[in-house]
Order: sequence, then structure tokens, then C-alpha cells
Amino acid sequence: MNAPDKHLAQGAAVPATGQPHVHESARAQVAGGATYIDDIPEVKGTLHAAPILSNVAHGHLRGVDAAAALAMEGVRGVVLAQDIPGDPILATFVHDEPIFARDKVEYVGQVVGLVVAETVMQARRAARQVRLDIEPLPAVLDVREALAAQSFVLKPVTVRRGEPEQRIAAAAHRLSGSLDVGGQEHFYLEGQVGYAMPLEQDQWWIYSSTQHPGEVQHWVAHALGLENHDVRVECRRMGGGFGGKETQAGHIAVWAALAARKFRRPVKLRLDRDDDFMVTGKRHPFAYDYEVGFDGDGRVAGLRLTMAVNCGFSADLSGPVADRAVFHVDNAYFLGDVEIASYRCRTNTQSHTAFRGFGGPQGMIVMEAILGDIARALGKDALDVRRANLYGTTERNVTHYDMTVEDNILAPLIARLEQSSAYRARRAEIAAWNDGSPVIKRGLALTPVKFGISFTATFFNQAGALVHVYGDGSVQVNHGGTEMGQGLHTKILQIVADELGVPFGRVRISATDTGKVPNASATAASSGTDLNGRAAQFAARQVRQRLAEYVAEKQNCRPEQVIFAHGQVSTPGAVMPWEQLVDDAYHSRVQLWSDGFYRTPKIHYDKHTLTGRPFYYFSYGAACTEVAIDTLTGENRVLKVDILHDVGHSINPAIDIGQIEGGFVQGMGWLTTEQLVWNGQGVLATHAPSTYKIPATGDVPAHFRVELWPEANPEDNVGGSKAVGEPPFMLAISVWEALRDAAAAARGGGPVRMDAPATAENVLKALRA
Ligand code: MTE
Ligand code: HPA
Ligand code: MOS
Repeated sequence: MNAPDKHLAQGAAVPATGQPHVHESARAQVAGGATYIDDIPEVKGTLHAAPILSNVAHGHLRGVDAAAALAMEGVRGVVLAQDIPGDPILATFVHDEPIFARDKVEYVGQVVGLVVAETVMQARRAARQVRLDIEPLPAVLDVREALAAQSFVLKPVTVRRGEPEQRIAAAAHRLSGSLDVGGQEHFYLEGQVGYAMPLEQDQWWIYSSTQHPGEVQHWVAHALGLENHDVRVECRRMGGGFGGKETQAGHIAVWAALAARKFRRPVKLRLDRDDDFMVTGKRHPFAYDYEVGFDGDGRVAGLRLTMAVNCGFSADLSGPVADRAVFHVDNAYFLGDVEIASYRCRTNTQSHTAFRGFGGPQGMIVMEAILGDIARALGKDALDVRRANLYGTTERNVTHYDMTVEDNILAPLIARLEQSSAYRARRAEIAAWNDGSPVIKRGLALTPVKFGISFTATFFNQAGALVHVYGDGSVQVNHGGTEMGQGLHTKILQIVADELGVPFGRVRISATDTGKVPNASATAASSGTDLNGRAAQFAARQVRQRLAEYVAEKQNCRPEQVIFAHGQVSTPGAVMPWEQLVDDAYHSRVQLWSDGFYRTPKIHYDKHTLTGRPFYYFSYGAACTEVAIDTLTGENRVLKVDILHDVGHSINPAIDIGQIEGGFVQGMGWLTTEQLVWNGQGVLATHAPSTYKIPATGDVPAHFRVELWPEANPEDNVGGSKAVGEPPFMLAISVWEALRDAAAAARGGGPVRMDAPATAENVLKALRA
């Protein structure tokens, strides 16, 4: 199945792949012509729903009094747990989350039910008038408190290699410390939305802004007491997902479908931004404690690490997120003897979920923190300590989860960035500058990224696609992946265009639809193009092969001699336009459409010991970042960023560079200004852009240079490319490390504890500690 891309080598001189094609929806998006769920013309009779939210973090739910709401204009009724015809528990893997809170509430913002009204504002106003009778219970709000109380959503997992205690005790140097890293709100521009429509015979059509239509289908069917074939889910595009619509979109769709079922009318549920903050899960906050032993070069000999993962009130994706964090503690470094204990803690907060990097950032940051402090403890340059710890290529190349790192390019990649960013010269300049600047201090850091590509749940690494060639030669592709702005559909169009040798513009994508490609995985784990691109390529290849055989027979040549390129089909003896061949083939009854299926080879692992080869390959990169802090106020700014990132042979360099820039800036937000604050009652106090600060255009560094590593993926992956969606997010750890470097300059050296995000307050704390 995984034959190399021969066609590209032999065929199209100017293939669509490798070109910076503009995003397939860009023009429509700019002109307002790209349809999001809320833009779909509403069907006659559509009702609108709004959620009724718990205002208590933990308690017995004694009653729901909707009388005042029901008396309001336009209100049609409420939907509560007793209105669920199927299973009242969501059909998640762990099966631990009620669709609507029933006898207890478990966080402020938990959805108890819906108010359904003629207009969205009527529904929202009425939902605020529903009175909940709740008897409060003690709530666990802090992750360290949850760990002490052994309050877990899932069992702890420990990965161990060698004898870390002995190695730490015997090491020339030791450090121990703690670190707290905050969560992150996804802040997708399009909020969560679902639109449910009754069809005939108890069948349902659901428009959902989701990264995982197949799971929405399954959850809706399960809640309605139906089978998957009774529910069809469609998504043309999302206005951003970032992991926040991997599972969370399913809740909204299920709620809308339950309301539609009760009132036998189409129902739309679109969360207002504040409610979206209050209801949906975020990036998992982490708390760490560690002990490390190292030699005089800063080389780690033994590490013991505890990670307390704040999962919120239910499991959701916390198991795989916490696993991925365990898999990424090493980042780019050989850890030696190591023990990592991962605790999946239960708190009375939103159920935290997938977010770009999926635990990877939380795994890596603690190792970067440790290496930065080892360097400061030894009085060495942090880059030298990082380099001393890098995985080797023939030795010191086995991860703590027993996977051999076969494709490591970090030594040459870091060397090149060190040169191109003038790291050494700037290090000296910054030191001199800091000597003359008592209040403002600058800092510099160069940090690498090694990110494992593949879903850690091995079975998710499969994909399907359909390629239809119509009689006029136009082509339509459908695949199981979803578009959230990342450019997946554009890349798929490029891949299919090249496979058929037709111009990019001859191929169209249609909305992701569970009625077309079934059982599709979430578009996540950065693997959208790897999986769906290959499936679409295989589908197109089958159509091409049928056409080649048809032509070869007529022209008396071999099928391999038929070349498809530039919208033409040529054999040793003839050339004809693609359209003519398609027309002839149709009239000769050749099948002009096909399916394609792909599953990632080589991967396997034992989910109890977390050992094996969970990843097909790694994506690499490095960033060099310069920052400045004001030591009187803690204010800080990112001044310069140089990135060298590995996307293999880029399918679309414009999109890939966009992903790198966007991922970096989003990571910078996580580590600097985006602070989630829950008050003593468990109320998320930062639930709007007025108090929750994502980066604005003015925060993008004035000097922001991105370069792509030139080599192809050594594993056989579509077009020689590598996944790009998540890995650049973690390049932003360089921002936080540079801030710690600046703080160390102000303090005159030594380890620096700086909790993330590095808000002005946390920078001041780091300076004063
Ligand atoms: N880029 C944009 N513009 N919008 C998004 O929502 N999500 C990110 C990343 N890049 C996202 C994005 C996340 S979390 C993932 S897993 C990947 O895109 C998913 O898409 P891919 O697998 O096709 O790269
Ligand atoms: N990444 C993103 N989403 C996922 C994963 C993963 O590794 N596993 C299950 N869902
Ligand atoms: Mo991305 S967090 O895997 O949706």
C-alpha cells in the first residue's frame, strides 16, 4: 500500500504539491462567502436553545425550577435529564460524564438542561431565570489538593527505566524543584455550535462544528437511543478548533439533538462566548515535582518526576493527554535512568480536553525548565547543556518508553539555527547590554522540539477517502478529515490534483459527512494530511490506474507508459486532453470513482506499560527567542524570534509557514498572558476577552523569521512531508526560557522558579523569590 510517490517523479513537471497554493476557502472567507454553521439559512420552524448552568462547584442537585423562564416571551420549554430517550451518560470511552447533570453538579458551568425558545436571545435570557436548588458539598479546586486526597479520574501511570534513585544519589550534582503550569482556553473564533434537524422516520441530520463528526454521530445516536445509521453529521469547516472541538463539540450537538427530539423541530445551539468559557474544557493545567542528578557538563544521569494533571471533573481525553505528556518529558533529550509518575487528578472544574500539543507541551516544558536550571546552577550556557543532553544517533537513542529514535536531525538543525540567529554573538551583546541596564533586562533562549506523530490510540491511525471524477472531467474529493483553518482540504486538493495530473482548480472538496466516509477518526494529532492525504491519494490512484489500463489497451502500450500531467494524458504515440479521456472512458463504462483507505504502518505499543513504538516518526524544530522584562513591573515583551522547523518536503509552504507562525504565537499566549483564574468558589473568573488575554497582532514579535528544514521525511509519508499542526506550538517554550534567562540576569544567576504563564505578576514573583 505504501508505494512511493512514483507518479510525481515521472509525471507532472509543475506539480500542485510543493507550491504555496492559497487556502481553498481564503477568498470566500475574506469576502464573507464561506459558510459556517451559523450562516446556514435556517429551516422554517427552527428553535434556539441556551444552556442552564450550575452555579455551584459541587453539590446535590435537589430541583430545577423553570417556572419563571417558562412564562417568558417566546419560550417553548426546557430540556432536562429526564427527557433523554437513550443513555443519560455520554458515549465517551470512559462513560463517566452525564449529558445533563442529574442528582449532583460537579463544576460551575456544568449544563443542567436547556431552555428552548423562538429566538436565541429569548432562550438565553430565560435560561438565566431558571432557579437551581443545590445543596453545596466540599469542592476540590486545586490539583495539588486533589493529588493529596487521591482524587483521580483515572488510575496513575508510572514509567520507569533503570535505577534513578541510585543514579541521582551518585551524581556529582543534584537539583530538586516544583513548577506549576496553567491551562489555556482555545478561543476559537467561531464558538461551539450545533444545528439538529429531524428527518423522516426518526432519522437526524446534524450540522456540527466538530473535529470528529463520527464521534458526534455516535454520541447523538446513543443519546437518542438510535443506531449510528440513523444520524448523519456534516461539517464543511470550523472557525478554529485547536483540539477544543475534538470532543467538546459533541456535547453541543447532543444537547441540540435532544431538544430537536423533544420538540420535533430543528434546533440550533450556539454558545455565547462567556458560556463557552464556562462550559467547555481547556488545556490541562499541570503541577510538577522533580529531582535530578547530573554531571559537571549538565548531562542528566537520573530523573524522578511527578506530574499532577488537572483533568477537571471527568476523564474526557485526559488519559491519552496525560500519556502524551509522559511520552514527551524527554523532548529531545536522553534521560538515562528515570521514573515518571503521572496522576490524573479529579477537580471540580471543567473537564479539560485536547489542546494543540495534547499534553506534549506540558511534558516538554518541565524538562526544559530542568535543563535551564541545571545550566544556571553550573554557570553554563543553557544551549551547551541542552546540546550535551540531546539524543544521539547511534547510542543514547532509546526513549524512556523503549522507542529507538531513528530519524534524529536535531544536532545539525540546532547548529544551523545557532548560526543563522547569531546566537553566540547575541548572547555576548545581551550580557553587555544587561550590565548597563539596571531596570530592563534582556534574555535569550534556543530550545528544540521533537514531537511524536501518530495518535497514541493506535486504532485512530486510519483514514478513508472518496474520489469522484465526473463526466466533464471535474473531480470531487471527500475524506474523513475536517477543516479548521489548518489548510487540510487545500493540501488534499493538491495531492489529488497531482495524482490525476490535473490542475489544482479542477478538483473540489465537499463537506465532511459521516454519510460519505464512515468511522473516520478525529482530525487531530497533527495527522490530518498524513492519514487523509494518503487515503485520497490511493483513491485517486485507483481511478488513474483504471484510466491508464483503458488507454493502454486502446493505444497498444503498457499502463505504466501512460502519463497524466498538466491536464493531459500522453502515451508513447498520442496526447489527449484529460476531459476527452474521461468522456471516452465514461462511454466505455469505466468506473470513474473510487475509495481509498490508509493505515499507518510500523506503530504499536503496550498501553499498560506505555512502551513500544507509539509514533511513526518525529517532527523536529528549534526556536531562538529574545525577550525583555521590566524588573520593576514584571511586564515583558518578545523582541526577536528565529525558527528553523522540519516539515519534510512541504506540500504547501505557505500553509506550513502559517501553521508555524500561528502555533508559535498561540504557544506564546499560553506561556505569557493567557491566565485562567478560578476563584475560591470554583467560578472561572476570566471568562471573556476583557480578562482573558490572547496575543494580539501587536504582540507578534517585530522580528519573526521562519525557515523550513530542507530534507524529506525519511519515513514513507505522503509527498515526503511531515505533520505540522501541533509541533510549532512547543517552539514557544523558548519564550518562557528566555524570560527565565532575563530573570536570572536580574537576580545575578542561579535557578529561577517562574510558574507559567509568565504574567507580569509571575515574573515579579520569580524576581523576588
Ligand atoms: N490551525 C488552525 N488555523 N486552526 C486550528 O484549529 N488546530 C491545530 C492545528 N492547526 C488548528 C490549526 C491542531 S490542535 C491540530 S491537531 C491540527 O491543526 C489538526 O489538523 P491537521 O492534522 O490537518 O494538521
Ligand atoms: N492526539 C490528539 N487527539 C487524540 C490523541 C492524540 O494523540 N489520541 C486520542 N485523541
Ligand atoms: Mo489537536 S489537540 O490533536 O486537535
